[in-house]
Amino acid sequence: MSTQKSSNDRPAKVTTRTVVDMKEQGEKISMLTAYDYTMARLVDSGGVDVILVGDSAGNVMAGYETTLPMTMEQMIYHTQCVVRGVERALVVADLPFMSYQVTAKEAMINAGRIMKETGAHAVKLEGGEPVVDTIKKIVNAGIPVMGHLGLTPQSIYKFGTYKVRATDETEAEELLEDAKRLEEAGCFAVVLEKIPKKLAKQVTESISIPTIGIGAGVECDGQVLVLHDMLGLNKDFHPRFIRRYADLQETISGAVSNYVNDVKKIAFPSKDEQYD
Ligand code: KIV
Repeated sequence: MSTQKSSNDRPAKVTTRTVVDMKEQGEKISMLTAYDYTMARLVDSGGVDVILVGDSAGNVMAGYETTLPMTMEQMIYHTQCVVRGVERALVVADLPFMSYQVTAKEAMINAGRIMKETGAHAVKLEGGEPVVDTIKKIVNAGIPVMGHLGLTPQSIYKFGTYKVRATDETEAEELLEDAKRLEEAGCFAVVLEKIPKKLAKQVTESISIPTIGIGAGVECDGQVLVLHDMLGLNKDFHPRFIRRYADLQETISGAVSNYVNDVKKIAFPSKDEQYD
C-alpha cells in the first residue's frame, strides 16, 4: 500500500499523481481488477493502489471467450458498481473494443461518458502509434489515460495467439518506441502484458511514467493480476505469470455442496435458524 498519508492520518486517496510519484520514489504499485461492489470493497480494504475495471469482465463475469463483445453500457455498469465500493484506490475503467478505435471524436465522447456516468478516475485503452492522437485529445480534455502494450487482448484475432509478444527484435523495438509515444501523448502509466522481462525492464528504464506488468517480469514499476485468477476462482486458466493467493474455487464449491447436503438431509435450517 502506498505509505502516503492524508492530513487525518488515514492513507491518502490514490491519484494519478500518486502512482507517478511512487515510480519516482521506487515504491512498487499494486493493481488488481474488480467488476462489482462487494469485491471492490474487499480489494480496496486489502490496500491495493489501483483497481482496474478491466474488459476482462467479458471473460470472468460474462463468460465470453474474448473481451471483444463488451459494450460501453456493460463497462459503465461494472465501473459504477466498483466506484461505489472504493474509498482509497485509484479506479481505472477500460474502454471497450471499438469504443475508441474509429475516430478520436467518438473516443472522447466514450471516455467522457465513462468518467461522467461512473465516477472513475481514469480510462485505459490498448495500443501504440495508431491511438496516440486519440490519447492526446482525451488527455487534453482532462481525462487521465493508462496505456496498454504487448499482448493487447482486443487484438487477439489479429495476433491469432495468446503467446508472449515482442520476442523478436523488430516488435521489441516497436514496443519500446510505442511506450515513449504513449508517455509523450500524456499517459500517466502503461500496462505491459506478456512480454519478455528484459524488454519490460528496458521500457521501464526508458520512460518516466510507471509500467504495470502482467506476465512482464519483476522489473516493472508495478504488477496487475485479474482478481479471479489470483483468488483461484478460475483454475482451468494457468499461465505461468499467475500466482494464486487463495483457492476460492475449492472453498466455494465445498460450501455449496455442504449446503446442498444439509438441505437434502433436512439439517438446514436448524431450530435456531427459524422464527417462532
Ligand atoms: O482487462 C483487463 O483485466 C486487463 C488487465 C489484464 C491488464 O486489461
